[in-house]
Amino acid sequence: MTMEAVKAGLEGVVVGDTAICCVDQGQLLYRGYPIAELAEKCNFGEVAHLLIYGELPNRSQLEVFREQLAEFHGLRAEVLNTLRMIPPDVPMMSVLRTCISMASHFDPVQGQQVESLRRRAIWLLAVASDIVAARFRLASGKEPIPPKPGLDHAEQMLYMFHGKNPDALSARLLDLTLVLYAEHDFNASTFTSRVVASTASDMTSCTVSAIGALKGPLHGGANEEAINLILKFKSPAEASAWVKDALARKEKVMGFGHRVYKHGDHRAVILEREMRKLAEVKGRQDLVAIYDAIKNPIVNKENPIYPNVDYPCGVVYYLMGLPPDLYTPLFACSRIAGWCAHYIEQIQNNRIYRPLSHYIGPPLRSVPPIEKRG
Ligand SMILES: CC(C)(COP(=O)(O)OP(=O)(O)OC[C@H]1O[C@@H](n2cnc3c(N)ncnc32)[C@H](O)[C@@H]1OP(=O)(O)O)[C@@H](O)C(=O)NCCC(=O)NCCS
Repeated sequence: MTMEAVKAGLEGVVVGDTAICCVDQGQLLYRGYPIAELAEKCNFGEVAHLLIYGELPNRSQLEVFREQLAEFHGLRAEVLNTLRMIPPDVPMMSVLRTCISMASHFDPVQGQQVESLRRRAIWLLAVASDIVAARFRLASGKEPIPPKPGLDHAEQMLYMFHGKNPDALSARLLDLTLVLYAEHDFNASTFTSRVVASTASDMTSCTVSAIGALKGPLHGGANEEAINLILKFKSPAEASAWVKDALARKEKVMGFGHRVYKHGDHRAVILEREMRKLAEVKGRQDLVAIYDAIKNPIVNKENPIYPNVDYPCGVVYYLMGLPPDLYTPLFACSRIAGWCAHYIEQIQNNRIYRPLSHYIGPPLRSVPPIEKRG
């Protein structure tokens, strides 16, 4: 095999068919529906149903979906005890990975039939949000609180964080980010999940593996890194000077760039608009000025690089008063819908993933006796 045959990062390589999502320069579709329309007309429950069941729910199907989520909410004592035992400085994504794994030992859903898998996907959505909320409260010295019946998924998460009904704007914005984060075809974490699924492993193992992939700053971890970058600067001038230097040093600026989108990320455009409105409501145009001071030199350079969804998302979550350690876990709480949809699709038409490598190690040699090894 020649070096030319190696596609670093699998760039441009098509590794499978999917009916779940279409990502290209011109459009982002979840099962055929454009993201802008879903963001405008649907909440996360409807989108999760679309991904997991293949179609948008009617009113009664949505009600059943909500009831199933409600039925699965609430952490067992064993999982709560695990949460209490994990040292306080462990990142929330690691906590989520460990506790989903722990909770799965008491998974209330049995079987590998498609209906069981869909129910397990809903269980994973419920349990992930319970874990993140419980850890959030324990980290701030408060006891976890049980979910409140009748709330939508985003409202429920905010309720379990703060112990009170969320304001309408925060609930709407969290819901919007969950819709935007729910699915993105063969990205690194979804591909991880599909590779694990291809070995005929279980849905929870796939989810835990995907959480590991999402945690990295080149993937989901970028929303947390992006806000931390913005918060480092005291003025737009300082931010702009830093970014020009960073570009000259060829340093990656978190929240920018994408393997597929070379002319901008559809989700970032939607969320940036909301972020600007929210900043106005909160009187935080100073933050937007720094946001723009970082963005402008990058989008205006000779080969522009555009913000991805994580860049405005970090600011939206920050303006909602959420701590950065929560941002990637919130992404995970949404993307579980996509990962599980891909799990179901993968195992229905499966062939194990087993690519080749191009060997660049030492040529053939024989093993020297231990006394003769330097
Ligand atoms: C998303 C990402 C991993 C895609 O990686 P990729 O497809 O391998 O892209 P490349 O690293 O090959 O980048 C292509 C060019 O754009 C530049 N570039 C890409 N992302 C950049 C960024 N965030 N900041 C500055 N330059 C960037 C690269 O340096 C490279 O320049 P070159 O051609 O002069 O060498 C990458 O853009 C990145 O690391 N972004 C920051 C992390 C992030 O926001 N991740 C969330 C993704 S949704």
